[in-house]
Amino acid sequence: MGFAIKVNGNTHNVDVDGDTPLLWVLRDVLGMTGSKFGCGMALCGACTVHIDGAPVRSCITSIDSIGTSGITTIEGIGATAVGAKIQKAWIDREVVQCGYCQSGQIMSASALLASNPHPTDSQIDDAMSGNICRCGTYVRIREAIKQAAQSNG
Ligand code: FES
Ligand code: FES
Repeated sequence: MGFAIKVNGNTHNVDVDGDTPLLWVLRDVLGMTGSKFGCGMALCGACTVHIDGAPVRSCITSIDSIGTSGITTIEGIGATAVGAKIQKAWIDREVVQCGYCQSGQIMSASALLASNPHPTDSQIDDAMSGNICRCGTYVRIREAIKQAAQSNG
């Protein structure tokens, strides 16, 4: 079945079954491998992308549920003002260890700061609670989010 999906501002026509998870379309059809597969059950956050600015787990989001909504992935988030601040803070704070979870972490953090430019510690913890990091980079993630929030003025 054919679907036209808008990813990072570009429309792509894909021919897949309607129940195909968005993650597979991004990775296998469009070749955007920045979004990662971890659990496939909305438990780890590695596959997080934005749909109309909201963080969603692309591993459980079927392609036929997206309609005309705009999708943003880790490949495109740096083009947004908040995404650029988050990525700079991630580099400054040397957040990344193995890196596997980090695109999902950055997508959740970007969605948080886009909706709440100055989150409290508990709001950061709530927003990031669904993103698991096996390397335990949580302290640096929180520091980086705070640094990016400070640059919001
Ligand atoms: S792969 Fe989607 S939440 Fe784990
Ligand atoms: S940096 Fe390794 S899983 Fe998070």
